[in-house]
Amino acid sequence: MRAVQYNSYGGGPAGLKHVEIPLPTPSKDEILVKLEAASINPFDWKVQKGMLRPLFPRKFPHIPGTDIAGEVTEVGQGVQKFKPGDKIVALVNPFNGGALAEYAVAKESVAASRPSETSASEYAGLPVAGLTALQAVTKSLGIKLDGSGERKNVLITAASGGVGHYAVQLAKLGNTHVTATCGARNLELIKSLGADEVIDYKTPDGAALKSPSGKKYDAVIHCTVGIPWSTFEPNLTMRGKVVDITPSTASMLTFALKKLTFSKKQYVPLVLFPKGEDLKCLVDLVKEGKLRTAIDSKYPLTKAEDAWAKSIDGHATGKIIVEF
Ligand SMILES: NC(=O)c1ccc[n+]([C@@H]2O[C@H](COP(=O)([O-])OP(=O)(O)OC[C@H]3O[C@@H](n4cnc5c(N)ncnc54)[C@H](OP(=O)(O)O)[C@@H]3O)[C@@H](O)[C@H]2O)c1
Repeated sequence: MRAVQYNSYGGGPAGLKHVEIPLPTPSKDEILVKLEAASINPFDWKVQKGMLRPLFPRKFPHIPGTDIAGEVTEVGQGVQKFKPGDKIVALVNPFNGGALAEYAVAKESVAASRPSETSASEYAGLPVAGLTALQAVTKSLGIKLDGSGERKNVLITAASGGVGHYAVQLAKLGNTHVTATCGARNLELIKSLGADEVIDYKTPDGAALKSPSGKKYDAVIHCTVGIPWSTFEPNLTMRGKVVDITPSTASMLTFALKKLTFSKKQYVPLVLFPKGEDLKCLVDLVKEGKLRTAIDSKYPLTKAEDAWAKSIDGHATGKIIVEF
């Protein structure tokens, strides 16, 4: 099969090499998938940069990528939910990678069926970004997607990114007022996804995270980097909570110091714990027309390095897709 891989840390897009290699073999609890689409996440190039060493990758050469949508061609002996011919979306084991290849294996437990009539690209964006948004909204903030529950004022930063654009839509299914930050070019898109108020992060009020209506936030889903705790703090209600999906040592240290002042405000680092049932929940929401993927751009596998460069650039609107 055709695949894209790299042999060492660093190198950026030029470090990606196009190779021909044997197909992977599914183990007992895995499915083999012929890919139709994959999506790129910042996680992928952070692994290549060595930012997550020594955990990721497990070994070189490494085929990057975790998010896949395609058709099952073979199943391991213990697989019960899927059979060859099923259309699925899945999260590949992030330690091993494998999404930038014509075939990839994934555990049955982190795969979900998807409708065959809708484009694979719409679903390929869901695994990492959608699951992170879902975990932040429902688990970290306790927002109920059926609209019940106490009303919350929520701020979502970088609402135009992969995680942020899903988070806006999911939070709005709950009983929330959503304020979102993004660049000027995406203000209308983020409003169309349901945000009640949208602020341009390059304006003084945007940089200060001030809601135009003056509302303070019960919760923040923080999807970018470089905003200090001192910017969040004056905008939070007394028990306001910041869920940080890219926690840094500096932000955790600042918060630990703040804790010493007996502040009731909370800083909550989030690490994704992927579950098949959550992926199924996202697929169902797409099927019901309650969640959609904004697609920044699509590339064939032969241009995977361009997709890679686009993600590193940090200015994608929604998801970057590789099609097969
Ligand atoms: N904890 C976890 O398990 C987990 C899971 C998923 C992702 N993450 C991390 O979460 C972060 C976001 O991921 P992603 O996939 O959403 O990234 P992404 O799609 O690459 O985000 C790009 C978007 O961020 C916007 N942006 C950049 N700086 C901004 C700022 N200061 N204010 C408002 N918007 C800003 C950009 O808008 P402009 O183009 O207008 O600048 C662009 O639309 C990454 O660091 C990723 O590694 C963590």
